[in-house]
Amino acid sequence: MEFVKCEAEGAVAVITIDRPKALNALNSAVLDELSATFDAIDQNVIRAIVLTGAGDKSFVAGADIGEMSTLSKEEGEAFGKKGNDVFRKIETFPIPVIAAVNGFALGGGNELAMSCDIRICAENAIFGQPEVGLGITPGFGGTQRLARLVSPGMAKQIIYTARNIKADEAYRIGLVNAVYPQEELLDQAKKMAAGIAKNAPIAVRGCKKAINDGLEANMDDALVIEEKIFGGCFESYDQREGMANFLRKKDDPNKVKVVDFKNA
Ligand code: CAA
Repeated sequence: MEFVKCEAEGAVAVITIDRPKALNALNSAVLDELSATFDAIDQNVIRAIVLTGAGDKSFVAGADIGEMSTLSKEEGEAFGKKGNDVFRKIETFPIPVIAAVNGFALGGGNELAMSCDIRICAENAIFGQPEVGLGITPGFGGTQRLARLVSPGMAKQIIYTARNIKADEAYRIGLVNAVYPQEELLDQAKKMAAGIAKNAPIAVRGCKKAINDGLEANMDDALVIEEKIFGGCFESYDQREGMANFLRKKDDPNKVKVVDFKNA
């Protein structure tokens, strides 16, 4: 792989988009490599993924403007589909993916972060959808995911004005869950991933599927989705062991754990 690196540390994989000369912008080659990297993840070993960008300036500065500049209508639509297919693969990937946004997350960069389950960022992160300034709409899911993640009104303001927002504003509107000093970001992301990885893996996957599929359904159907996934956990080793373990230790004063999300 030329532009995407993947390193496993125990049950956590760190995927890094590594095209620093172009601030990690997404051209076709990067998108193909990103897709192949997710395909190659060993889901029997890896239980949580951290996705970040190389360097301390940019997560991903968008889709590659040079590559897009001469596209025809048909090619533009195909390029949108290419990005959407990869990002949907990430969004529906069975294992949780945490975006560690280490700088610019513009256009396709913000769209990539939004296709992850959880976003945390560095203090220097900048988010935005600058597309209308380039004469295009967001094309890798931005019009859909931003409206769902923040609110339609906030998404429309960000997209129509093409004004970027800083990390503190991204935190205020719920686009990211936490903001860290740049030098702490990756360790914090790995720590969160390791915390997820130590939980029952089939249950964690079930939660991701239940939340994702439920959000696309009406409440009655969504609750049926949850019931089926909930039921599917029973009789499993993790359910039997997890509950027996709780019952054996029921006098343990530490059994109720309250965590501060910032230091989860
Ligand atoms: N595509 C291609 N190359 C890019 C790029 C992009 N999206 N973003 C940055 N680069 C390249 C620059 O061309 C430059 O390359 P050279 O050194 O060869 O000239 C290099 O990265 C460094 O960039 P700058 O010199 O511009 O760095 P800066 O610190 O002055 O500015 C920036 C940083 C504000 C992020 C600026 O680079 C920028 O505005 N980039 C474009 C951001 C953008 O508009 N993204 C949205 C793209 S459209 C999209 O993503 C559509 C979609 O929804 C799918």
